[in-house]
Amino acid sequence: MKKVVFLIFICGILYFSYISFSDNNIKKLTKIGYSKNQANLIINKVPSKYLEKAINIGYSEKLLDFIDNKNNNLKEFEDFFNNINNNNDKDDDKNHNTNNNNNKFKNKAYYIADNLDRYNKYYNENPGMDLNLIISLVNVNADYKFYTNVVNTDLDKDLLILVNKYNKLPSNYEPKNLVSLGDYGIGKMIDVAKEAFVQMAEDIKKEGLYIKSISSYRSYSSQESIYNRYVKIDGVEITDTYSARPGHSEHQTGLTVDINMVEDEFANTKEAKWLANNAHKYGFILRYPKNKEHITGYSYEPWHFRYVGKEVAKFIYENDITFDEYYAYYLK
Ligand code: DAL
Ligand code: ZN
Repeated sequence: MKKVVFLIFICGILYFSYISFSDNNIKKLTKIGYSKNQANLIINKVPSKYLEKAINIGYSEKLLDFIDNKNNNLKEFEDFFNNINNNNDKDDDKNHNTNNNNNKFKNKAYYIADNLDRYNKYYNENPGMDLNLIISLVNVNADYKFYTNVVNTDLDKDLLILVNKYNKLPSNYEPKNLVSLGDYGIGKMIDVAKEAFVQMAEDIKKEGLYIKSISSYRSYSSQESIYNRYVKIDGVEITDTYSARPGHSEHQTGLTVDINMVEDEFANTKEAKWLANNAHKYGFILRYPKNKEHITGYSYEPWHFRYVGKEVAKFIYENDITFDEYYAYYLK
């Protein structure tokens, strides 16, 4: 009789130890994210010698998949936990690298927090690429193919309206206050841009140099004819490097002017050199500079100037950035 009481006593102790052991583990498992049912499943299926490992790996969908409806044997559990440990080590390395890059990106000029995932993605796709360049490209959307992810540009930006391969104007958009350039060349510009152009033309004349417009405002339909004409000659791929698709040309804003000649040799003229160094004082920027093709989407155009106002033009000139980059960081 005494023996039976003793046995019941021992069983009772074992039972309560088991209950408190599994209670404890349920708490640990629910703390790392499992539901109560999942925690019970883990306790029932995972052999006790692996329970601690199951808790230490943290919440794992792989573990739930692994034990789901299977009567796994000990060897399978051993393999499972060995593999998951190796993979976690690799993930840790990955996170470690990503964190390092996160910090590297964060310390750079023109870093935009919302773009961090895209910076990292682009970095992984282009290992070794300069981090500043990655920031520039992602900020202007050039991590996407040209003419994809296109949005209607924000017309409220007024004189700072952005038109490029990702930002388009409505086909019926026509700027207000267009005025003829008269003696200063072909076409029309918005009045403030024309005044600035006239002032610039008068001042360069004092240096014995001459500028005039050979193309300024262009409607959607005139850009369409120009672009299509080039496509017939050069095909789409080449044409896209120098001519904008309709709705994507800055000429439709009335804020842009092509000066003297649309030829590469223009870059060697005194006028082009003077403009490159002085146009910002009048509120104009060289919109498609040399070596920025990947950012602007266009080849170097030493003749194409865009009015943005004196303050912004000075900033862009002094900091050697494109309007696309300026817009992404300061205006978007
Ligand atoms: N040539 C410039 C990019 C335009 O077509 O607007
Ligand atoms: Zn132009």
